[in-house]
Amino acid sequence: MKLFVDTGILDEIKEINSYGILDGVTLNPSLIKKAVGKLKSEGQEINMENYIKNILKTVSGPVSLEVISDIFGKMVDEGRRIFKLFNPIANNVYVKIPISPSFGKNTNNQFDGIKAIQVLSGEGIPINATLVFTPEQALIAAKSGASFVSPFAGRVDDYIRGNNDIKFNKSDYFPEYGIKKGGEIISDNGILSGIDLVGQIVEIFRYYDIETKVLAASIRNPRQVREAALAGADIATIPYSVIKKLLYHYKTSEGMKNFTSDIVTEYANILRND
Ligand code: G3P
Repeated sequence: MKLFVDTGILDEIKEINSYGILDGVTLNPSLIKKAVGKLKSEGQEINMENYIKNILKTVSGPVSLEVISDIFGKMVDEGRRIFKLFNPIANNVYVKIPISPSFGKNTNNQFDGIKAIQVLSGEGIPINATLVFTPEQALIAAKSGASFVSPFAGRVDDYIRGNNDIKFNKSDYFPEYGIKKGGEIISDNGILSGIDLVGQIVEIFRYYDIETKVLAASIRNPRQVREAALAGADIATIPYSVIKKLLYHYKTSEGMKNFTSDIVTEYANILRND
């Protein structure tokens, strides 16, 4: 499974990249807002275009940049603009298009994202179809030519817990104690958790030899990373703070302390010059 970092903060991207394990980056308007907020709080000048170009130069793998409109023609224009402006920098731009840009009340533009995916992918622009919450949305995105589909695992868990009045912290693994509430099995639309959604999409894509990659997004904790891998996700995009937790285990730290306190000078002298 490839590991992407889900952040717009350049320092975080650089740090994870320095570990040699970074395969790509995902951005969205909220992550860019967070990065801009950080730069402003540090009193730094912001040149957004150069900032994004720096991100592109830092990573050799795919970097997803999202459109901001909700109407077919505008999404296509923005997708082309993103690709033309940024892809020449390192040839690693993926344009992110919401699977359905409708805000719910007006369903006239429900399929505008799909139409935009078709046009842009037909022009050879790789597309990451985002805000995917059902396997059928993923299937339609794949049929439209998307290179990646991004099921939002953490937000599915938020949604199911919210619908079932289950209290939670965003970083909690779900379902922590199984999926029973008052003895009843909790489910939502046949999707039992965010990772279950990822697994269902993987299963459908494998069944039909669909080449679109499954990019598990909205990951909130290390166990979801493990389970995205077990579910067969091609990629997981992971927040910086969660990547930092991936290597932690109490027994690993305890073992380090013990090994270090057991070092004898006879052995240390061979390894150290000082
Ligand atoms: O990759 C999607 C991601 O940025 C959304 O994450 O934690 O806001 O649901 P989150």
